[in-house]
Amino acid sequence: MTRPKTKILVDGGDPQETRRIQELLGFVDGQTTNPSLIAKNPHIKELITSGHKLSNREEMDEYKKIVQTISPLVGDAGVSIEVFSDEKTTAQEMFSQGQEMFSWIPNAYIKYPCTAEGLRAAQNSVKQGMRVNMTLCFSQQQAAAVYAATKGTKEPAYVSPFVGRLDDIGQNGMDVVKNIKRMFSKGDGHVLVLAASIRSLEHLLYCFALQTELATVPAKTLELWASKNFPTPDNQFQYKAPGKSIPYEELDLEQPWERFDIQHELTRKGIEKFAADYRATLSRIAEREERKTKAPQTQMGTSGFPRPSLSSGRRRQLPADDPGAII
Ligand code: G3P
Repeated sequence: MTRPKTKILVDGGDPQETRRIQELLGFVDGQTTNPSLIAKNPHIKELITSGHKLSNREEMDEYKKIVQTISPLVGDAGVSIEVFSDEKTTAQEMFSQGQEMFSWIPNAYIKYPCTAEGLRAAQNSVKQGMRVNMTLCFSQQQAAAVYAATKGTKEPAYVSPFVGRLDDIGQNGMDVVKNIKRMFSKGDGHVLVLAASIRSLEHLLYCFALQTELATVPAKTLELWASKNFPTPDNQFQYKAPGKSIPYEELDLEQPWERFDIQHELTRKGIEKFAADYRATLSRIAEREERKTKAPQTQMGTSGFPRPSLSSGRRRQLPADDPGAII
């Protein structure tokens, strides 16, 4: 196989799957995870179907175990770990979670959403030397804001445009990838494009043709690619756009990130879906706690999402009557 220039990441939450793809391809450059994918992990699913739901802390610990198993299986594109957030989660709460998650494995990238709070958390993270992956990106303006917010990062930041979800609403999702690549060609190279929500071989081949730096791909699409003997696009390759084209915008990357229009309905919906999938794995008590918006009683943040301790090695023991304990 001629290894593509685009780094290949597995989009999933199951270490067994990553191992299988590693054997099939002979390599896996990295991995991306998110709350929906973690909820689909076979062990988590087994717990849930047997009625054994999790506390917030247990959910974090399960997530940690999963990424710690995946971490040594992948190459230098690392493992992306997503903070739990909903529309109320503050930048500080995201950042606190990000700090703990970053300590789990040596090759972590912390995923924050392309929202104002997510961008603030990312700005702070890169100042602290953390690697970030800005997720739920649906527009060139959001990618420009990521560029501006992560300037000065020691290691390249990732931005993840979601192709398939734009296709779903009748647009040509690959246009956003193409437009961001074009815009970044005028930049300093500190943000790499990680094409996400890849649903087909055509998406993948077009990523290769556009030379996106990275693509995160579900196992089944990688298996299809392997079954066809790892095709790469030739000069004749033409991508058949499924929807309405998205025009390129001339944007000044030197502006502060707050100047860009970062609103996108799909970002909002994506956060909602991740939060719902996360909540579906929680015990009723943990869920009730998680929904509280008032001051924390145990280790909850004001958003209701877990507020991890800053040093994961010295985590406080849960009290015996932990309201989030398994019921
Ligand atoms: O990496 C993002 C991905 O998991 C979302 O994919 O198919 O749910 O849009 P999809």
